[in-house]
Amino acid sequence: MTSDSSDVNQRGELANSQKQVEQLSQEVLELYRQVNLLYRLGDVFRSGLQVEDVCALLIAESAKVVRARGACVTLGEGVKYGTRITDPASTLTVPINTPQGRIGEITLFDKKRGFFTAADEKLIKAVARQAGVALENSKRIEGLIEQNQALETLNDELRAIDQMKSDFVSNVSHELRTPLASIKGFAATIREDPEMDREVIQEFVGIINDESDKLIIIINDLLDVSKLMSGHMDYNLEFTQLSRILSEVVALLMIQAKAKSLRLNLDVQQDARVNIDPTRMSQVFINLIGNAIKFTDEGSVTATLTATDREISVAIADTGIGIRKELLPHIFDKFYRVENVVHQKEGTGLGLALVRGIVDYHGGRVEVESKEGVGSIFTVTLPTSLVAGTRVNG
Ligand SMILES: Nc1ncnc2c1ncn2[C@@H]1O[C@H](COP(=O)(O)OP(=O)(O)OP(=O)(O)O)[C@@H](O)[C@H]1O
Ligand SMILES: [Mg+2]
Repeated sequence: MTSDSSDVNQRGELANSQKQVEQLSQEVLELYRQVNLLYRLGDVFRSGLQVEDVCALLIAESAKVVRARGACVTLGEGVKYGTRITDPASTLTVPINTPQGRIGEITLFDKKRGFFTAADEKLIKAVARQAGVALENSKRIEGLIEQNQALETLNDELRAIDQMKSDFVSNVSHELRTPLASIKGFAATIREDPEMDREVIQEFVGIINDESDKLIIIINDLLDVSKLMSGHMDYNLEFTQLSRILSEVVALLMIQAKAKSLRLNLDVQQDARVNIDPTRMSQVFINLIGNAIKFTDEGSVTATLTATDREISVAIADTGIGIRKELLPHIFDKFYRVENVVHQKEGTGLGLALVRGIVDYHGGRVEVESKEGVGSIFTVTLPTSLVAGTRVNG
């Protein structure tokens, strides 16, 4: 071998090894890049992301690492993230697995033919595995968050019930104490003064009688509510002209309305006979018209009776203080009173709960419209289908 040819050989080997070194360092660099990516993804995926964030990250990072034009993720429930490019020449689909099994897949696209290599597939599989764990975690976290939210709602409800109970105890005690104190006061005065005028005694006994009636009403309401709750309320149904019940209630409450200088009107536009418990239905209208009078300081209270072929409605409209919109859903709750904090008006907050219970029993409904400072309209609608043809005009 001449020295020239050995030179050429040596140079050739050198060039070869240089190429190999370059290739190797290229591979090492690529490997480093991939390992780096996986570490980075591991960190990002570990931080408790939401499902859509994990998918967005998976799509962006996977496409970037293999330099693909686009990617999309499909999860088990058919939910898709990312968009497909039109007419891709190459696709690479890799499953997304969790320890529990396959939960979806990621597909990468490119416009060039034969774009994806076996190394790309290996890399995307590794990325998809990490994403799978992240998705599993985020689902668990979402489940925990939901559970937590449900517990918080329950907690809020329990707190509200607890508050209602305290309000109720304080209300009822107040409502019972006031008439009781008055009964005791007047009885003691009569007893201490044997010389008292008969007329004065009569007046005091009258007050004692009225205050006892208030106590009876509260106690009856309490008993009724507990009967309603246990489903043991008795009803004696009979066909009754609804206007008759209303006229009686209006006559009964006229004194209260007059005492406040309010006009109390009954407007019977149509009438019907309905199959109801007259005593219970009177209770409904006593509370509704009673409330209208109680919460109105000026103007009028009007009960209007109208009927269609199937239904009869009583609308009780007042020009009173009205109810704030956000409080309307609560007023039919037991013990709920808008003015729970300030005991300016009498009441235990049982009336509307009883109204709803009784009307429900009769297959009817109660609706309310109200505007604060303008007034309220409570409408009771009862079915008349059982007595078709008995409608009369009033
Ligand atoms: N016509 C009305 N105008 C304004 N607020 C009303 C009217 N009717 C009811 N409300 C509000 O709804 C609450 C609940 O009414 P509900 O009849 O159940 O209780 P109450 O009248 O306070 O007590 P009770 O009927 O047990 O004596 C009332 O405390 C009041 O805040
Ligand atoms: Mg009431």
